[in-house]
Amino acid sequence: MKTPSKPSVNVPSFPLVGGGSIPALGLGTWQLTGKTCTDAVRSAFKLGYTHLDTAEMYSNHEDIGRALRGHDRSKVFLTSKVWTSNLRRDDAIAACEEALTELATPYLDLCLVHWPNRAIPMTETFDALRELQEKGLIRHVGVANFTVKHLEQARKASKVPIVMDQVEFHPYLYQEELLAYCKKHGILLTAYSPLAQGKVFRDEKIAAIGRKHGKTAGQVTLRWLHEKGIVAIPKASSEQHLRENMEIFDFKLDEEDTKILDNLPQRRIIDPPFAEFE
Ligand SMILES: NC(=O)c1ccc[n+]([C@@H]2O[C@H](COP(=O)([O-])OP(=O)(O)OC[C@H]3O[C@@H](n4cnc5c(N)ncnc54)[C@H](OP(=O)(O)O)[C@@H]3O)[C@@H](O)[C@H]2O)c1
Repeated sequence: MKTPSKPSVNVPSFPLVGGGSIPALGLGTWQLTGKTCTDAVRSAFKLGYTHLDTAEMYSNHEDIGRALRGHDRSKVFLTSKVWTSNLRRDDAIAACEEALTELATPYLDLCLVHWPNRAIPMTETFDALRELQEKGLIRHVGVANFTVKHLEQARKASKVPIVMDQVEFHPYLYQEELLAYCKKHGILLTAYSPLAQGKVFRDEKIAAIGRKHGKTAGQVTLRWLHEKGIVAIPKASSEQHLRENMEIFDFKLDEEDTKILDNLPQRRIIDPPFAEFE
């Protein structure tokens, strides 16, 4: 397929507490490794993506680093995450420094605690992230997989603002209470597994909304997140999927569509044994 020389879509951004902003749509890279990963990131850049999501755990920092080479770093919003067993001060600092070396980049735009870990005091982790922020190695501090209860603790434990909570969020996991809490406290949400790992493509109700707007079930789902002020990071490996996932800023859902999407049966997909969900 031919790659356009100009970005196909201009992606809007959401402001972050403490300054700066984050593109409302990014590329998720879990399970993308090696050449497939580097190629997907390069295709994404050509299409106009300016936001990448990775993690220490994804083992793809070097593959992403290869795609970043020769690209204007200031035009990319790069998120990575520290794994849950590396939340002691020295471990967190070492993990971030290693991520920067592997990514061959001087800083992360956003560094997230990947999962809460009740065995390690949050103050220790957030103090470490603050040190990294003061050194200019990370721009913003955030968390992932934190519930309201965790965020309450985190906001007390951290001397720097927690700007982001990255959580599973899609029409089958409409975390309304968490969203309201985050809005109240200036924390943005990022939806991971925003396409419910492809399950939305098998949903006749979502497909019907799509037909009304000339869009796919995936585009309807990503639009639903956007209209709620939530960042989305769909993972896609083909150029067709990458392109399709961006084309969500030229239509609006109506009240009836939103009512249907807000009221689908609920089920969490990602729930590993170490999760601390209530
Ligand atoms: N913080 C955390 O604990 C956490 C947990 C899970 C995920 N995440 C992040 O969130 C990102 C996304 O989540 P995810 O990978 O679990 O699931 P997802 O983005 O909901 O779904 C990815 C799946 O949807 C397919 N897909 C993408 N675009 C499509 C399109 N336009 N048409 C048809 N199929 C399409 C992909 O296929 P192809 O690959 O073939 O395009 C892939 O199989 C991850 O990559 C990661 O960065 C974070």
